Amino acid sequence: MSDRRIIETLRLAADPAGIDAAAQLLRAGGLVALPTETVYGLCADARDDRAVARIFQAKGRPHFNPLIVHVPGPAEAARYVAWSDDADRLASAFWPGPLTLVLPLRDGHGLSPLVTAGLDTLAVRAPAHPLMRDVLRAFGGPLAGPSANPSGRISPTTADHVMAGLASRIEAVLDGGACGVGVESTIVGLFDTPTLLRPGGLPREAIEACLGAPLADPADGGPLTAPGQMTSHYAPGAAVRLNATEWQEGELRLGFGAVDSDLNLSPSGDLVEAAANLFGHLHRLDAMEGERIAVSPIPDTGLGQAINDRLRRAAAPR
Ligand code: TXA
Ligand code: MG
Repeated sequence: MSDRRIIETLRLAADPAGIDAAAQLLRAGGLVALPTETVYGLCADARDDRAVARIFQAKGRPHFNPLIVHVPGPAEAARYVAWSDDADRLASAFWPGPLTLVLPLRDGHGLSPLVTAGLDTLAVRAPAHPLMRDVLRAFGGPLAGPSANPSGRISPTTADHVMAGLASRIEAVLDGGACGVGVESTIVGLFDTPTLLRPGGLPREAIEACLGAPLADPADGGPLTAPGQMTSHYAPGAAVRLNATEWQEGELRLGFGAVDSDLNLSPSGDLVEAAANLFGHLHRLDAMEGERIAVSPIPDTGLGQAINDRLRRAAAPR
């Protein structure tokens, strides 16, 4: 597969032929955007240096940013990382699903060193989306997959979003419709003290209840954070104003709850619905090319933590 040539990006259908074509392209070292329950992932064979390098090239992503490896379940994860009791507890409760675990890398893992960006830990996750699981099974190996957006832009929750950002840079997108969860997975580092590295689709409270202990925050003194957590991330073209309790002249209005707005994350104030709508609504408002997007306050509980984290990054100075 050529590195610089402009590629015609195929849109594969969600049927056995589409799944098979996706697996074949991946086996040939291709890049295929696949639907997961969180967001679309830009996937490639995690053992293939050249394929993984092409992920960074297609996204325009800095090389020091490590990637999540997607596997069917704990048995496959344990080939690449030193599995632990906490990992077992969390995977039993939440896999397949929107939870990524960071664990020590195992010797002889066989993954491209580009996947971990030289760290001695690896982020692994078993996604729940049936199409992603079908492709993992058909492909039969580990898939490296960051969100399928150009670096620094909003994560894609539909095949159209993927096409808008990456068409002509990747071999294909498997069209699985809109992602159900809508924000990326929660990332937990299973170090001496389990640490919340990124809030996401699985609420912190659920993880703490399962472990029977509070999660540490990187700010508590833990040396490791998710390196991709740059402040100015998920940025739409327009400026973003948060916690807007009234609208100002000329703003595009992103509402939450019973407010008058241009688009509403959830008129009934449901955080699950709001998470599922977040990136789609931001993409839509961005396309209206206004100067500023104002956003209603979102409660900071459950999935609200992940939503607020993404909104703060969208609003960060850049
Ligand atoms: O829901 C998701 O997690 C989606 C879908 C496609 O699975 N993927 C995703 O990947 O959001 P990405 O690359 O956009 O974000 C992965 C985050 C980055 O912030 C990266 O720095 C962090 O995971 N990460 C990866 N490996 C790590 C490691 N060994 N230690 C700490 N953070 C790590
Ligand atoms: Mg991302």
